[in-house]
Parts: sequence; structure tokens; C-alpha cells
Amino acid sequence: MRSIRQRLAIGYILALGLTITLFGLVLYLDRRQANLQELDDRLEVEADLTLRLVRDLSNSFGRLPPIVSSVQDYFQSFGHYLILVGSDGGVVAAVDPSRSLDTTALERLRTLAGNPLDPPAFGTASVADDRPAIRYYVTRVVGADPGIRSMLVGAGVDEVSFGPAALLRSMLLIAPAVLLISVLVGSWLAGTSLRPLESTIDELTAITDGRSLHRRLPVDPGSTDELARLAQAANGMFARLEQSFSAQQRFVAEASHELKTPLMVLRAGVERALTNPTMPPESLEPLDESLEEINRMTELVDSLLMLARADEGRAPLAVEDCDLRELASEAIETAQILGEAKNLTIRSQIPSRPVMLGVDRTRIRQLLLNLVTNAVKYTHRGGEIGVGLADQEGVVQLVVRDTGIGIAAGDLPHIFDRFWRADPARSRDTEGTGTGLGLAITKWIAEVHGGSISVQSRPGKGTVFTVSLPRSATNTQPTIG
Ligand SMILES: Nc1ncnc2c1ncn2[C@@H]1O[C@H](COP(=O)(O)OP(=O)(O)O)[C@@H](O)[C@H]1O
Ligand SMILES: [Mg+2]
Repeated sequence: MRSIRQRLAIGYILALGLTITLFGLVLYLDRRQANLQELDDRLEVEADLTLRLVRDLSNSFGRLPPIVSSVQDYFQSFGHYLILVGSDGGVVAAVDPSRSLDTTALERLRTLAGNPLDPPAFGTASVADDRPAIRYYVTRVVGADPGIRSMLVGAGVDEVSFGPAALLRSMLLIAPAVLLISVLVGSWLAGTSLRPLESTIDELTAITDGRSLHRRLPVDPGSTDELARLAQAANGMFARLEQSFSAQQRFVAEASHELKTPLMVLRAGVERALTNPTMPPESLEPLDESLEEINRMTELVDSLLMLARADEGRAPLAVEDCDLRELASEAIETAQILGEAKNLTIRSQIPSRPVMLGVDRTRIRQLLLNLVTNAVKYTHRGGEIGVGLADQEGVVQLVVRDTGIGIAAGDLPHIFDRFWRADPARSRDTEGTGTGLGLAITKWIAEVHGGSISVQSRPGKGTVFTVSLPRSATNTQPTIG
């Protein structure tokens, strides 16, 4: 089922429907029982009165026919059934208020009347298929004319069930209206009580990354309901997360910052040693290797510091209007220099008219450098690299393509992650080393300019990175992979 709101409303309707049904059923059964009891009482009274009359008449007449006709006349007024059974088991007198009982029905009543129990008993019996059952009372006739043995007084049960049945009918008529109202009230109640939850969900969805952790859910100070407690718990969690996030960011930033100076000192020392003419030649190679590692470390530390600052929101953009053709041309030159050793062909596609855009020159330069160094690094000797700039409606595109080793489809979602590098075995033949931070930084630079970066790649064929920068560049705070 979709939402809590629907579940609540349906639960509410079911509960109410069940309550109405049960209430109606109990009321119906109780009413019916009470009416039956009332009928029984009446039948007993009628039997009693009739019995007394039979006795009185027996005393004064002593002959059966006049007794019978008087009793029948008297009983007519009750509007109920009466059967008097004689000592031979035959019917002495019968009163049928509907005058419609056929002989089989009368015969059934006679059988019932002919078997009186001690003490007298009530019963319900069906006498004809097309008529309602009959509630009856059978008693022996003692102290009267010996020609009369027993007596049955009865009434149709429809007399009893009419009241409760009418009740049930009215309930059936009212029930849909009550249910409809309950649906409306139920969903309204569920809706109003869950509305704050919806806004909480929206707020929570808006807190997507490390930089929105300073946000808090609104909490009504007077309220102690579940939603307020949920908001408080979530806010507490955000506070703790924010704390540990910023502690971690600060740690990385400080550590990278602290590492910069010793690395610079190291580099200067090694460079001086390398240029020292008295240095024995066998020491030159290890010194050269050390310098390479120091350079790599410096690059890593710079990247870490830059990402840490970006995370903390302390990496402001120095936006100025510039012609992106200059930056693209620089990137092409870099590609030519880097690609020389691998004999790479460099192609360029740059518009003849200026492509002006407000950007942070240094950052965009770094973005292009990252893409170009990757292209050179992951392309075999003799391959081809293309750098393109396209000025389109509302958006400027920077494209860096290569005919290199490509990226497996399964790896594509990860390449912008920090420290992610493809399977080393695959890129074994790519010289040099990397940090795995280049593309994470590239993505951040694109996004901090309000743009985006996308990649298309086919393993063995090559890769195309496309950076799109919108013309109305806004300095948003993007997520970093
Ligand atoms: N042009 C490319 N061709 C093939 N693979 C690439 C290319 N650019 C990036 N990759 C893959 O993405 C990974 C991440 O790139 P990057 O973040 O620049 O890290 P690094 O270059 O330091 O390895 C690289 O290790 C490589 O596996
Ligand atoms: Mg790289």
C-alpha cells in the first residue's frame, strides 16, 4: 500500500465498518431475543386465560360443542393460532387467524399439540414452506372436560422479527452514509496529522551532502508529539554528523597544509643535490627517483588541500570575464608538450570568434590540465587527442577526447570518486602515476561554476569528456564525488 495516510484511512474505515456491523448484529439479536420473550409471555397468558375459560365452561355446560364454539369465539380476538386436541388425538377446535392453513399444516400443528410435555413447553416449528415459522406453546388441559386433552397456542415468528428486521434495514440504509463520512473524516485526519511528516521528508531530502549538514528541521518548541521528537532526534544526529564532518575536513586541511612546507624543503634539498657537480654518479638515479616521489606527494597534498577547502566551503572563485579560447589553446599546447614523447597527434577545434564567459581562470585551467594529462596518460603511442571548444546557445562546452584505452562501462560511475583508479593491471602500460583525485577535482570545478561534466567511453577505442558551463554561470555549492 502506498502511504501511511491511505493505510490509516483504510484502517479507520474498516474499524468503523466492523463496529457498525457488530453493533447492528448485537442490537438485532438482542431485540429479537427480547421480542421472542415478550411473545412467549403473551402466548402463556393467552393459554392460561383460554385454559381457565375451558374449565369454567366445562363446569357450567358439561357438553363439548358449546364449549368449543365459545372458546373459539373468545380466542379469535387474540389473532393467534389455537388447537385443542381431544382424548382420541383428533382436533377438537382450531383457530387459524389467517384462515389459510392447509390440511398438512393443520396436521403438523395437531401432532405438536398432541404431545404436551410436563412442564408445558415452548417451541418453534415450520408448518408450511411458504409461511413464516410458528412459535407455539403446548400445555395439557386438566380439570376440564375429559374430551379435551391438550392445547397449542401459537403465533407467526414474523410478528417478533418485524421490529428488529426494520431496525436492520434502517441500519443498512444509514451505513453507507456513515462509511462515506468516515472515509472523508478518516483521510482528512490522517492527512492533517501526517502533513508535518511530508515537510520533514522534504527537508531531509534537501540535506544531501556534507555541506548542508548545518541545516536543521524546524521544531515547534511547545510540541512534544512524535513528529517533534523525530525532528529533534534528526537534528541531534545532524549536529553530531556536522561536528565529525568538519573535524575530519579540518584534519585533512591542516595535515595537508602542514605537509606542504617539509615537502618544499625536501624538494629544494634534492634538487640542490642533483645539481651538485661533486655528487657521485651512482647517487643520481636514487635522487632522481626521490624527486619524482616528492613531486607526486606534492601533487597529492595540493589536491587534498584543495578538496578539503572545497568541502569546508573555503574555496572561493575568482570569477572574471575571459576568452575561453585562450585557456583551450593553452591546453592544446600542454597536450603537445606532454604528447611529444608518445608521438601523439593533437587536434583542436576552436571557434574563430571569442568565447567570453565569467569563470575562475585558474580553476578552469586546472580542469583542462587534469583532462589533458589523463588523455595523454591513458593513450597509447601514436594515438590521437582532441581538444575542442564549442559556443552554443546558453552553454559553452569544453571537450577533451582521446583514442586511448577507454573506461569499462562498469567503471564509469566511479571515475569521479575520490581516490578511485581503474584496475592497475589494465592501466599497467600507462606510464607515470596518479592520485585518483584529478577527476574528483575536475567535477567539483565544473559544478562550482554551475556546470556539469559527462563522459563517454568505449574500452580500447577512446574516451570523451565534455564539460558544459552555462552562460548564466552561478556559483552554486555542488556535491563532490
Ligand atoms: N582519458 C581517460 N582514458 C581512460 N581512463 C581514464 C581517463 N581519464 C581517467 N581515467 C580513469 O579514471 C581514473 C581516475 O582518474 P583521475 O581522477 O584523473 O585519477 P588519476 O589520473 O590520478 O589516476 C584513472 O585512474 C583512470 O583509470
Ligand atoms: Mg588524472
